Amino acid sequence: MHFIHDMIADRFRDHSFDIAKEDYKFIKIKKAKEDVLKKHPDAELIDMGIGEPDLPAHSSIVEVLSAEAAKPENRCYADNGIPEFQEAAAKYLMDVYGVDHIDPYKEILHGVGAKSILATLPLCFINPGDITLTTLPSYPIIATHTKYLGGVVYGLPLIKENDFYPDFSNIPNIILYRSKLLYINYPNNPTSQIATKDFYKKVVDFAHKHKIIVVADSTYATTTFDGVAPLSFLSIDGAKEVGVEIHSLSKAFNMTGWRIAFIAGNPEAISIYGTVKANSDSGQFRAIQKSGIYALNHPEITTENCIRYSRRFDLLIEALKEVGFDVEKPKATFYCYLPIPKGAKSGKVFKDAKDFSLYLLNEAFTCTVPWNTPEPYVRLSVTFEAKDYEEEKRIIHELKERLLKLQLIF
Ligand SMILES: Cc1ncc(COP(=O)(O)O)c(C=O)c1O
Repeated sequence: MHFIHDMIADRFRDHSFDIAKEDYKFIKIKKAKEDVLKKHPDAELIDMGIGEPDLPAHSSIVEVLSAEAAKPENRCYADNGIPEFQEAAAKYLMDVYGVDHIDPYKEILHGVGAKSILATLPLCFINPGDITLTTLPSYPIIATHTKYLGGVVYGLPLIKENDFYPDFSNIPNIILYRSKLLYINYPNNPTSQIATKDFYKKVVDFAHKHKIIVVADSTYATTTFDGVAPLSFLSIDGAKEVGVEIHSLSKAFNMTGWRIAFIAGNPEAISIYGTVKANSDSGQFRAIQKSGIYALNHPEITTENCIRYSRRFDLLIEALKEVGFDVEKPKATFYCYLPIPKGAKSGKVFKDAKDFSLYLLNEAFTCTVPWNTPEPYVRLSVTFEAKDYEEEKRIIHELKERLLKLQLIF
């Protein structure tokens, strides 16, 4: 009897799902990586495909978890979260971003990671036929869930010509009329572009004018370098009237597997999010929320990551320039977004970003992540494993030598 396969909901048969494509892409890269390692078991793979910090959470955060995990009062369902976490999140918004107008009890709730919050929001707002505007490329979860609900996704390309900001001026009126959610993510994965106050003001004006709810995904907001200050969407006048902002502890505090984040902003949006969330999960373990409180009360912990990523970028960007890439040091995130070369002196022509990414894997034992839409780029992450600065220098030097050998043509 094989009836279960035929009973899977129709929505999963639609091959246009971004999540399916994304999963497919990551699975293919993972498979290609395994094949390369099988063929060349002694090769040193330089893995720049990883999208998470290379270090564990700070020992002081781990100590809080260890102590709190043992306390009987932390054992219960946490439901929509403990108020102390919301208070710490409000204080964090104030201390790090100067956002001083958020009511911790009505305008903040925790989530089991930013991904879970993003997955929940379409259920709060999207009816069949409603539109979610999302940047391309983007973290795909909000688009995927919009489609699950019979909604429609309209992509706003992030292209170099527009400095990787969406262009709101050419969205057709028929689309605007049906749009309910606008998803933005700055500092951006994968382009590494940062938001400016002017850009956020434009977003707020656009949202007010067209009555669209903004979902600002600020997962990478603390990871900035070279004097760039972290910027919150909620610091812009009028932002709270039109939107919410998501902050994650995954990248800021190296707490990726811990699953803790928060959403802040418009109280009506937070309230409906809370209703849906309460019907979906029973909250993150209180001991993790308490570790999160400790982390949020110690934002200085995030600077260690910034220093490490920044010095790695200094090495990487110089090496890439020497190889011939047209690339500048990112101002934030741990990603470098690299336009693909035309080909290599061997006669190889790169059809697209995936082709180039596989070529790098096979010919230079270097793992990257490709994007073809809207422009062919690969993403290199500076979260590769290296125990100290000396090893970082060695790995980047090795990468440069391997790339030079390929004799890429730009
Ligand atoms: C842009 C963006 N948003 C959200 C997430 C998910 O973060 P979290 O670990 O809090 O679910 C990621 C993770 O890679 C991301 O890159």
